[in-house]
Amino acid sequence: MLAHIEAVLSLEQVALCRERLAAADWIDGRATAGEQSAKVKHNLQVPEDAPVARELGEMILGALGRNQAFVAAALPLRVFPPLFNRYDAGMGFGAHVDNSIRFAGSVRFRTDVSCTLFLSDPDEYDGGELIVEDAFGEHAVKLAAGDMILYPATSLHRVAPITRGARWGAFFWAQSMVKSDEQRTLLLGLDRSVQGLAARLGHNDPEVVSLTGTYHNLLRMWAEV
Ligand code: NI
Repeated sequence: MLAHIEAVLSLEQVALCRERLAAADWIDGRATAGEQSAKVKHNLQVPEDAPVARELGEMILGALGRNQAFVAAALPLRVFPPLFNRYDAGMGFGAHVDNSIRFAGSVRFRTDVSCTLFLSDPDEYDGGELIVEDAFGEHAVKLAAGDMILYPATSLHRVAPITRGARWGAFFWAQSMVKSDEQRTLLLGLDRSVQGLAARLGHNDPEVVSLTGTYHNLLRMWAEV
């Protein structure tokens, strides 16, 4: 599923990111690309081990840990330290699937969920949509600064060329407790329905209690922790 998570960062946090990143060293984005994606990737990144990436990454991880919408959609087991990229005019990223396994230091992750956190507002650039393909077609995503899109790491996706301005963002992956996007989608739908019913009927309504139990028992059946 594609999940739009609103206001992961406040406007003040976005401004802090922009200010710190403006002073950072930027390198060719192919540093973290696999063999296929390196051929179609054209952007700039802050090196993974740069102190500014670590510091801002910690701020984002803290915000994500408190974000119920992210936790419900990703069911995260491990979250890869966020990286930062920038697409200037003429840059883009052709169709690819993200690497399945990544290392953060000596820790090996399986990438189940891909995330893009927008640090530029849509009126700052033209083009630059994240385009994600699924069984229903292509979905073009361009969000307000501070908002994030979460999508299956198994998806073919690309970033449309920038024709004006620049698009700055943070991107990262999560290993989910539930590997299957289909199962995560079912759990998220059930979770949202239970929350809606609980708001109308109360958390102790017998059917709400029963459905809450079903949610947890499905999660117990499918989760790897
Ligand atoms: Ni990608």
